[in-house]
Amino acid sequence: MSEFPRQTPREGHAGTGAGAITPDGCAVEVYTRLPVGDEPDVIASAVPAGATLLELGCGAGRMTHPLLERGFAVTAVDESPRMLEKVRGARTVCSPIETLDLDERFDVVLLASFLVHTADVRVRDALLRACRRHVADGGSVLIQREGEDWHERAPRERRAGDGLVRIASVQPTGEPGVSSVHCEYVFPDGTWTQTFPSRRMGREEFEEALTGAGLVVDAYLTEDRTWVRALPVR
Ligand SMILES: C[S@@+](CC[C@H](N)C(=O)[O-])C[C@H]1O[C@@H](n2cnc3c(N)ncnc32)[C@H](O)[C@@H]1O
Repeated sequence: MSEFPRQTPREGHAGTGAGAITPDGCAVEVYTRLPVGDEPDVIASAVPAGATLLELGCGAGRMTHPLLERGFAVTAVDESPRMLEKVRGARTVCSPIETLDLDERFDVVLLASFLVHTADVRVRDALLRACRRHVADGGSVLIQREGEDWHERAPRERRAGDGLVRIASVQPTGEPGVSSVHCEYVFPDGTWTQTFPSRRMGREEFEEALTGAGLVVDAYLTEDRTWVRALPVR
């Protein structure tokens, strides 16, 4: 039995499979298995060495651990205590991002994993305001957004360690611009799924959302424009 009570799923989010499932439908077990990609390299090349870094929605530390190895001082935030118990070597904070108020500023605030595409615009704006609230003057916010055609390119799949990540379907929810994404994580010893709503956001709409939170795009860091460095506006 877990010492943590079961958390209420966020609207439109669901997950299946063995072990704990977070309110946004992620399986803790899956996130302990998924290998890290080039994310730490993208981050390290965009910010000063040794920076203090606030990672929002850190999960099981897939990116946290390589960032710590690169010398960043990481504070890792997640609303799932079951995810956070997998994080080693970082200061951890268990909280929804929307209401996070650490009374502290960081050189870098990281909002990865496409959380900025959350379907509810009030939640999205609250996520971005949390980034703005915690970034130091002269610091930066790194955001990972979806690729332009991701809502059209389904089904699609990729290998991940000894597993397979399949975006099985992306279906309209009835709300303009919002799709329900269904992912399958297939490993030799088990299968997990996550379903979540995603709001499509072109470049213009994304930049407008940043403006509303007191942030401005400084640079698109990757050719596909999925990684963005934003700066606080005074
Ligand atoms: C898709 S996982 C990604 C984890 C990690 N960023 C990675 O790339 O491995 C998303 C994580 O963000 C957390 N999360 C999602 N929305 C959140 C919110 N509004 N506040 C706090 N945590 C959130 C979930 O609990 C989950 O651990």
